[in-house]
Amino acid sequence: MKGCRWRKLPFLWMVLFLVVSLGACTSMKEAKKQAENAKVPVIEGAKYVGSEACADCHEDVVKDFGRTIHGRIAGFEVKPSMEAEGCEACHGPASKHIEEEDPAYILNPAKLEPAQASAICSRCHTDGETMDWRGSEHALNDVSCVKCHAVHGDKDKVAYRDKLGYRHKNVKDAFLREPEPELCFTCHKDVMAKTNYPNHHPVKEGKMVCSECHNPHGSMVQPLLRTDERKNELCLHCHARYQGPFTFEHTPVVEDCTICHNPHGTVADNLLKQNEPFLCLQCHGIHFHAGLRPDTEEVLSKPHEAGKPTTVVPHDSSMQMVMMTRCTQCHSAIHGSDLPSLSVPGGGSRLTK
Ligand code: HEC
Ligand code: HEC
Ligand code: HEC
Ligand code: HEC
Ligand code: HEC
Ligand code: HEC
Ligand code: HEC
Ligand code: HEC
Ligand code: HEC
Ligand code: HEC
Repeated sequence: MKGCRWRKLPFLWMVLFLVVSLGACTSMKEAKKQAENAKVPVIEGAKYVGSEACADCHEDVVKDFGRTIHGRIAGFEVKPSMEAEGCEACHGPASKHIEEEDPAYILNPAKLEPAQASAICSRCHTDGETMDWRGSEHALNDVSCVKCHAVHGDKDKVAYRDKLGYRHKNVKDAFLREPEPELCFTCHKDVMAKTNYPNHHPVKEGKMVCSECHNPHGSMVQPLLRTDERKNELCLHCHARYQGPFTFEHTPVVEDCTICHNPHGTVADNLLKQNEPFLCLQCHGIHFHAGLRPDTEEVLSKPHEAGKPTTVVPHDSSMQMVMMTRCTQCHSAIHGSDLPSLSVPGGGSRLTK
């Protein structure tokens, strides 16, 4: 009896695993469906009355709002399909709210489901920056527009300048709740940690912002990368000198810059995921050259042929030398080269210069 129950155990685990993964799968699909089908809630029986009516009771809000871009939008700039402009474009028809003086009859995006709040904004913002919003990781993970934007233009909430008062490069008055990168750091602590590593893109110095590489609103290229081609195109946009094609290519470079580099920060120099030679030894074996001749008796008995890798002898001094020398001291054209190298067999293909 007992043995039988035990034998069933793996089967039970499998069922459990299936149930759990099925659950995770449906909840992902559910999140996607919710984000895509979210509709702006309807306030039954209410009519549009115009923004002037709000000033009686929300004087401060109306005054601040007049200075923001939404407050300055003329009727003709709003999509023809929209019934309303001004306050009611986001808050819905307000007649009932004004009659009853009851917040229950007005939409407050801060209190709605995240997907519903975003649906309000998406009535107008469906192109340009925000074109790929619907399938984005932020939309699918309940990060709504109003988590990052404070649209009222209230001076306390709008912070798009850094601590020194300089405006961040490339960031317009987008009503951000906090300037970048602090805005992103409130949720992405692991990335924040990496920007403190000795080697990093100058994000923390304020010379660059996260949204130069990421579009927080969505992208066809994961993870939210600011490119519509391959990941490499993003890097080559700023590092154009590594743009191929080169006569002598290095396969992983053509494939994906992030095979060797971590864009956020690393302990190793040059944003390298590992120091040399370990980085290179993930894919290549150690080899010896004229300058790095193994000199133990065992190896000297088999004379080293130029161009042929020699068996590695542990604790050998030339082995130490390889480990101490950066491979790129010789293979300096690691990103590809057009120059044939005359002094070396194999020429430019060896990525020397
Ligand atoms: C006659 C007064 C009056 C007028 C006019 C009025 N409101 Fe209100 N509104 C209120 C009151 C009262 C509250 C509740 C205030 C509170 O909870 O602090 C409120 C709250 C709100 C809220 C927050 C709702 C919530 O759930 O937190 C929004 C949004 C709002 N009003 C929008 C509008 C808009 C837009 C207009 C103009 C179209 C408008 N109001 C006109 C009295 C008014
Ligand atoms: C572009 C969309 C948008 C427009 C237009 C807009 N609001 Fe709001 N409103 C919001 C959002 C989003 C919130 C939720 C609070 C937040 O995110 O800061 C909000 C919150 C409010 C609140 C609740 C109190 C508060 O400050 O949190 C009131 C009252 C209000 N709005 C009134 C108005 C009035 C009056 C107008 C027109 C003068 C207006 N809103 C225009 C998006 C909008
Ligand atoms: C009635 C249509 C409409 C709605 C609804 C709307 N917007 Fe806008 N918004 C505009 C227009 C038009 C502009 C100016 C042109 C542009 O940048 O697209 C604008 C501009 C912006 C900008 C850019 C400001 C700048 O200085 O560049 C942000 C950010 C923004 N909206 C966020 C939001 C958010 C968040 C919501 C929802 C709470 C929202 N909008 C709802 C029409 C709308
Ligand atoms: C995770 C934070 C985040 C979320 C969520 C977010 N935004 Fe933004 N938004 C930003 C940042 C950062 C910028 C400034 C850099 C840029 O243009 O991407 C910006 C810029 C904008 C702009 C100005 C674009 C331009 O052309 O300069 C608009 C419009 C806008 N957002 C609308 C929205 C709308 C609508 C939503 C929801 C559907 C939304 N945002 C959700 C962070 C966010
Ligand atoms: C309110 C919290 C919040 C803010 C603010 C926020 N994010 Fe996110 N972000 C998330 C969540 C939640 C996810 C999905 C889960 C995850 O991958 O961490 C996500 C996902 C992402 C992803 C995709 C990660 C992946 O593995 O696919 C990127 C890239 C990203 N965010 C960048 C940004 C940038 C850039 C900013 C600032 C402009 C920002 N986020 C601001 C919460 C936030
Ligand atoms: C130089 C361009 C660049 C900058 C600047 C940048 N990122 Fe990234 N980020 C990337 C690339 C490329 C990836 C994909 C890495 C991979 O596939 O190995 C990525 C991945 C991510 C991810 C997915 C999870 C992870 O850690 O790989 C998150 C979240 C993220 N970035 C957030 C941010 C935030 C927040 C900032 C600002 C502090 C930022 N990024 C700045 C290029 C950048
Ligand atoms: C928006 C422009 C921009 C993009 C996109 C960009 N970089 Fe950079 N990168 C910079 C700047 C600026 C520096 C700092 C240069 C300096 O300090 O002299 C830098 C420095 C570097 C460095 C050298 C770090 C060091 O130690 O000096 C590496 C490696 C690098 N980037 C790799 C990448 C990779 C890989 C990508 C794509 C994931 C990428 N970059 C995308 C602007 C960019
Ligand atoms: C096979 C690993 C590898 C790949 C893949 C790779 N790199 Fe590098 N990268 C290195 C090494 C090693 C260094 C440091 C030695 C040097 O400077 O040559 C470096 C240094 C850099 C530097 C800093 C030095 C400088 O020129 O300012 C930049 C920028 C850079 N790489 C960009 C890129 C870009 C862009 C890609 C993708 C097109 C890429 N790398 C792909 C290995 C790689
Ligand atoms: C992700 C794996 C990977 C990493 C990491 C890597 N390489 Fe390569 N490398 C390759 C591949 C694949 C080729 C093409 C091999 C071929 O054509 O036989 C290559 C080719 C080369 C060549 C030319 C070989 C020839 O036969 O002409 C040299 C030299 C080279 N790599 C040096 C390096 C150095 C130095 C590093 C470290 C900075 C490095 N590689 C990191 C995968 C890698
Ligand atoms: C002292 C200069 C020097 C150093 C240091 C060096 N190489 Fe080489 N490497 C060469 C030369 C010269 C060639 C071409 C001659 C040959 O084929 O032996 C070469 C050839 C290669 C090749 C082509 C295939 C082969 O074995 O013939 C690869 C791959 C390679 N090196 C990888 C590396 C790696 C990985 C490191 C670091 C562990 C490294 N090299 C360190 C000079 C060097």
